[in-house]
Amino acid sequence: MATHTTVRFDPASRLEGELTPPADKSISHRAAIFGAMGETPVRVRNYLVAADTTSSLNAVRALGASVEDDGGVLTIRGVGLRGARVPDTPIDVGNAGTLMRLLPGWLAAQEGRAFVLDGDDSIRRRPVDRIATPLRQMGATIDARDGRLPPFTVTGGPLRGITYALPVASAQIKSAVALAALAADGPTTIVEPEPSRDHTERMFAAAGVDVRRAGAEVTIAPVETLALGDELTVPGDPSSAAFAVAVALLVPGARVVVRGASTNWTRTGFVRIAQRMGGRIEGPLEDAPGEAIPHGDPIGDLEVAGSALRATTVEADEVPLAIDELPLVALLGCFAEGETVVRGAAELRLKETDRIATVVDGLRGLGASIEATDDGFVVHGTGGLRGGTIASHGDHRLAMLGAVAGLASREGVEVAGMDAAAVSYPTFGADIRSLVK
Ligand code: S3P
Repeated sequence: MATHTTVRFDPASRLEGELTPPADKSISHRAAIFGAMGETPVRVRNYLVAADTTSSLNAVRALGASVEDDGGVLTIRGVGLRGARVPDTPIDVGNAGTLMRLLPGWLAAQEGRAFVLDGDDSIRRRPVDRIATPLRQMGATIDARDGRLPPFTVTGGPLRGITYALPVASAQIKSAVALAALAADGPTTIVEPEPSRDHTERMFAAAGVDVRRAGAEVTIAPVETLALGDELTVPGDPSSAAFAVAVALLVPGARVVVRGASTNWTRTGFVRIAQRMGGRIEGPLEDAPGEAIPHGDPIGDLEVAGSALRATTVEADEVPLAIDELPLVALLGCFAEGETVVRGAAELRLKETDRIATVVDGLRGLGASIEATDDGFVVHGTGGLRGGTIASHGDHRLAMLGAVAGLASREGVEVAGMDAAAVSYPTFGADIRSLVK
């Protein structure tokens, strides 16, 4: 991702209005991949139009699926669980870690066929051994650069059902194993150290797959075909919505309504953390689901008001439920009274950038008192933020963090590499500015 666009965000004295975030990135990737694995056409409404999810559509087309766009409604015609075609060139996942980690779960079932996956400079630094280990146990062959990095090759084989204890709470690893499980010779059980986002399980349940949860275990029975149904609507993305939630909390007197985002419990960890900090956020948040797996995601509107914040501590069990929003927790911590601590979040080092290093350096450059730890950060709240310049390093969430910091700062922020936001939220700049009155 180019990092050349520098954009300035001045302090906002008045913030109000409504914002509808773009479609959910995680569910859009899954809609493309699961649709391609099916045999009957599925219409997808509100598919995310952004760089990452365009990479998914291009990937499934390269594998033989057809994708038609009729006025923003996609029709995906899949090639079946075992019908992926070998493309002439490597599959380019771009910047999309989710595509890179999920697709091999499907490709693992393509017996005797080899697929090469590659992506941008950021992707080439992100490990794939985390999915290679379980997929090899199931019967696929995976060869990666230096044993763990892209480009890498997935060769399909006859798959066995296994029991796999995830070494880290990661929805991407869970989903890669779950996709392979559909074509295995018997049930597969995945054991999660902590709950992580559960869109794959919910979409499988809605598609009639026998997927069950018992405590920390998710068990998936194989299927003949994956039938998503005629139609699927992608809800708004709570991770994109979180930027508007954060800025509304930080600007005194702000009142903002964020419409139509998923309120799935596994995605609203940030809202619960912000509420604990004293953030005034009201809305129909889903309760932690029990063992019955819901079919799809609930959606709702959040009403957010400018709030005086106090510090909090985020422990490991909350991390997967707020993983992409932890940079915003650091920002809230700058404005809060006391010391905000995030622990058990070493996974942040493996995101689009090392988000412990880039968030700490970035916010420090804006005047924050923040230190990195091995697995998180410690922020000393100073009641505000001066402002300055922050670099996105090509990381979409860092670019948007800088913009929100600017609107809430005393002197404004210049974001170098603002164009990175297009990875998940192309209209972010206009949307967030529309709240400034
Ligand atoms: C995602 C899971 C998370 C998250 C990523 C999207 C998904 O990654 O950071 O943006 O769609 O499954 P991990 O599950 O690997 O932490």
